[in-house]
Amino acid sequence: MPPPTLPPLPLRPAAPAPNIGSDMATVELRGVCKSYGAVHVVRGVDLAIADGEFLVLVGPSGCGKSTVLRMIAGLEEVTEGELRIGDRDVRGVVPRDRDIAMVFQSYALYPHMTVRENLAFGLRVRKFPKEDIATRVQEVAAVLELDLLLDRLPKELSGGQRQRVAMGRAMVRRPKAFLFDEPLSNLDAALRSQMRVEIKRLHRELGATMVYVTHDQVEAMTLADRIALLHQGTLQQVGRPDELYDRPANTFVAGFIGSPAMNLLDGTLGGDRDTPVVCAADAVIPVLADGLPADLAAGARVRLGVRPHDLALADAGAASPAVGFRGTVEVVEPLGWEVHLHVRGEFGTLTARLERSVLPAPFGAGQPVRLVVDPSKVHLFDGESGRRLEAGSPGRV
Ligand SMILES: Nc1ncnc2c1ncn2[C@@H]1O[C@H](COP(=O)(O)OP(=O)(O)OP(=O)(O)O)[C@@H](O)[C@H]1O
Ligand SMILES: [Mg+2]
Repeated sequence: MPPPTLPPLPLRPAAPAPNIGSDMATVELRGVCKSYGAVHVVRGVDLAIADGEFLVLVGPSGCGKSTVLRMIAGLEEVTEGELRIGDRDVRGVVPRDRDIAMVFQSYALYPHMTVRENLAFGLRVRKFPKEDIATRVQEVAAVLELDLLLDRLPKELSGGQRQRVAMGRAMVRRPKAFLFDEPLSNLDAALRSQMRVEIKRLHRELGATMVYVTHDQVEAMTLADRIALLHQGTLQQVGRPDELYDRPANTFVAGFIGSPAMNLLDGTLGGDRDTPVVCAADAVIPVLADGLPADLAAGARVRLGVRPHDLALADAGAASPAVGFRGTVEVVEPLGWEVHLHVRGEFGTLTARLERSVLPAPFGAGQPVRLVVDPSKVHLFDGESGRRLEAGSPGRV
């Protein structure tokens, strides 16, 4: 049998790969569940990832992100549901035949092999011709700016360089899709943001489908075409970063996306139909009448959501002194251009993010303040289910 040949540049081969029926690198999960005995860790996940899309799977530790990724890779069996890559049902297909490459948090480089040998390894075991391997390694090294490091051992590289070698190892195979499991979490903050830019550039250049797992909402917001937010094995919301930020589907999404986190307070709907307010202890917060579900009645228990940067200091002598959150500054966190205020009142605690220049001088802990929010910036959620309340949605489940 003649040795397999490698497709030429561009990095994404135009012709179908030999071991898969279609060139489309879509990934589709339908009702996917994963259980270990009686422990259900992934519960009915429906997710359709488009060809060339950068999808970020985000959620807190233990929510099932890696399990979903490992099922796509073929490293874990699907307990229930359907999983397709391209036009093929891949349940029962071994990882090496799925035409995808996975990059882990631990780079898992071979310590005794040079960068060149590490990059070539996957092609060597698949018995590609020597010259093709050398060409491919050169191409990938150029894209990742590893050309000058090819003869070094992993221990002679920085963390970021090792990470690039790990990505290069996945790239030389020109897979249909890349799966990343927290690839940057071993790096320091500066390198992480640099690698974020790098990965974004790579995605644009390769045009490959990428599924990227992280618990870091900043990584999710900055990298994703779409974010899928997982909590306790259940998808909470899937959408563009701005959709999750602007219209979080429930209080979990609201609190997870955005930093500092959205303030969430218990309240009650009051006022009348045309001038509704939410009351949280002694705080009275006007909300938009046309933003409420038609059947939401006065007295309904709600969760009030306000992003820290949507809060503003009210003038002491301003009109409607009854409106807003009245409290005392407990902590001031200066951050250069902005400051974060932690304010305590009868309503509980709030974080406000303000431009430093708006603070009166002197200003510090112990200062009484009144914080106001534009009614159009208030998010409302059902007091029990936590589901987003808005015009058109039912007031009660
Ligand atoms: N072999 C196993 N047997 C039983 N439970 C398991 C097994 N593997 C994973 N789990 C559980 O499944 C849940 C999801 O694990 P998973 O590794 O997917 O989480 P994760 O979202 O990737 O978390 P992290 O951010 O910490 O990596 C966890 O609660 C974990 O304890
Ligand atoms: Mg994980």
